[in-house]
Amino acid sequence: MESVMHNQTQYVSKIPDKDGYRTYSDTEHQIWAKLYAVQEKSLPGIACPEYMSALEEIGLPRNSVPQLKDINETLKKKTGWGIEGVPALISFERFFGLLAEKKFPAATFIRTSDDFEYLQEPDIFHEIFGHCPLLMNEVYTDFMQKFGELAASASAEDQIMLARLYWFTVEFGLIQSNKDLQIYGAGIVSSVNESKYALSNKPQKYELDLVEVFRTLYRIDIMQPIYFVISSFDQLFNLVDAPRVVFESIAEARSLGPHKPLFAVGDLPEDDLRKKIA
Ligand SMILES: [Fe+2]
Repeated sequence: MESVMHNQTQYVSKIPDKDGYRTYSDTEHQIWAKLYAVQEKSLPGIACPEYMSALEEIGLPRNSVPQLKDINETLKKKTGWGIEGVPALISFERFFGLLAEKKFPAATFIRTSDDFEYLQEPDIFHEIFGHCPLLMNEVYTDFMQKFGELAASASAEDQIMLARLYWFTVEFGLIQSNKDLQIYGAGIVSSVNESKYALSNKPQKYELDLVEVFRTLYRIDIMQPIYFVISSFDQLFNLVDAPRVVFESIAEARSLGPHKPLFAVGDLPEDDLRKKIA
């Protein structure tokens, strides 16, 4: 089994010009347009209403790769958030610190057509189409900021646990707000394949429980075998608004130990599982 860190050299981050704009080729704009069109068609009914209305409200360009500068202006007016262009891989410490400052770290390259349906690194389609709409939602952004503050001040060991909470909510969360189970995680809404797979009967789904989340390992390079389901974004906010409960849950998860993963770990050291938040 390939180590997840060994094949991540294909993409190079885009450097902004003096006015803060990044240049994309016609082919890159076409990739964006095609991804947008495919997901715009497939998400109604499967993505939660909060995401769908925020997607409309943020008003992303359909036919060209958006500029972070433009999105920043829209977000700033609504929730005070901003996007910070970063290389694809940054440390947990920097990542959580940026969230605490209401800055969402975003990669700026876009995938090639070879990676159209599946990409283990976060590209700009994932960052913008996946993450930015919900950064227009005030309950969600209050949760994100609070989470950032809590995680930035945590020990390195606890940050590994908190990365699992981020992974199973912000990246791969499901929500059951009324009778329908729907998706809100950025890793799902931005994935052509996973947005179809996540609500199928193939993966396991559990109500979100902090101790269970902290006991669940993840991999960034496969479709998720397990998802956790929330009932509302208020639930997410309330979780991180009670740091004592979070850290007690981490301690309990640590004493119980991690669950045996449903995926083959093989020669993949756990460090590789931890290194990255998409
Ligand atoms: Fe992400």
